[in-house]
Amino acid sequence: MNSLTNENRPKKILIINGSPKGANSLTFRVAGAFAEGLAAEEGSVVENIHVSQLRVRPCTGCLSCWGRTEGKCVMTDDSIPEVREKILAADTIITAFPIYFFGMPGTMKTMIDRLLGIFCTFHGQELDNIKAGRHALRYPREGQRLAVIASCGFSESEDAFYPIKVQFDLAIGEGKYAHFCCPQLKALAQAGSGQRFEKILALSRQAGAQFAHGSIDPALTAALEKPVLSQKTYRMLMEKFWQDEKGADQE
Ligand SMILES: Cc1cc2nc3c(=O)[nH]c(=O)nc-3n(C[C@H](O)[C@H](O)[C@H](O)COP(=O)(O)O)c2cc1C
Repeated sequence: MNSLTNENRPKKILIINGSPKGANSLTFRVAGAFAEGLAAEEGSVVENIHVSQLRVRPCTGCLSCWGRTEGKCVMTDDSIPEVREKILAADTIITAFPIYFFGMPGTMKTMIDRLLGIFCTFHGQELDNIKAGRHALRYPREGQRLAVIASCGFSESEDAFYPIKVQFDLAIGEGKYAHFCCPQLKALAQAGSGQRFEKILALSRQAGAQFAHGSIDPALTAALEKPVLSQKTYRMLMEKFWQDEKGADQE
């Protein structure tokens, strides 16, 4: 099935990978599998942006994008104008990043700050529901969707992802985007033959296929967020990993 948009072109999926590891990021691989599942259902094309390869100057806080320039940043000599156009043209945006200090990696946050102009100017409006989303989109497009895919080292991915969830709920609105956060990912990819990691990729592919038709089944989200290794095994693997790392230094 190849579904076309109103403009008669295949739908576009844009993965924005915020891991400093670029294409070697495990979270990016999970997001890639999600995009594969989605693309197979709707016949869309996938494009990747690796934030680590961009040149992004930090926001200087002038707020021109909310006033004088109506949606555009005054800084035009880095990667942001191109990223902005790609985001506006995408039908599905997948932001993928590892949890760093219970947040997103700094480079990803720096990029998002520079995209403030995509959201409507703040006029002092109050919202009674804390999770309703504070920032309406300046250029809303019917059918444009967002998925936030994260991974973390902790086994308790819900806790590790919590600050990110609050951030996106406040900005965009609870329930207005899909999300999941995979725990223990590095250990799963490294332990044994990598079969456990392949299983996560298969689940993510399935989640992408479901997302094409609406939302991800909560049971599937739960499977993606469930720690695969028992806490005892995980601790043992971690201890061995750090021991080996120390040893590697001493050799
Ligand atoms: C600087 C740094 C900070 C991290 N902070 C956290 C954290 O707060 N909570 C957590 O569960 N994992 C944390 N991790 C682990 C990563 O989230 C985890 O290894 C992730 O799966 C790596 O994904 P990637 O391969 O896509 O970069 C941190 C890793 C680094 C390098």
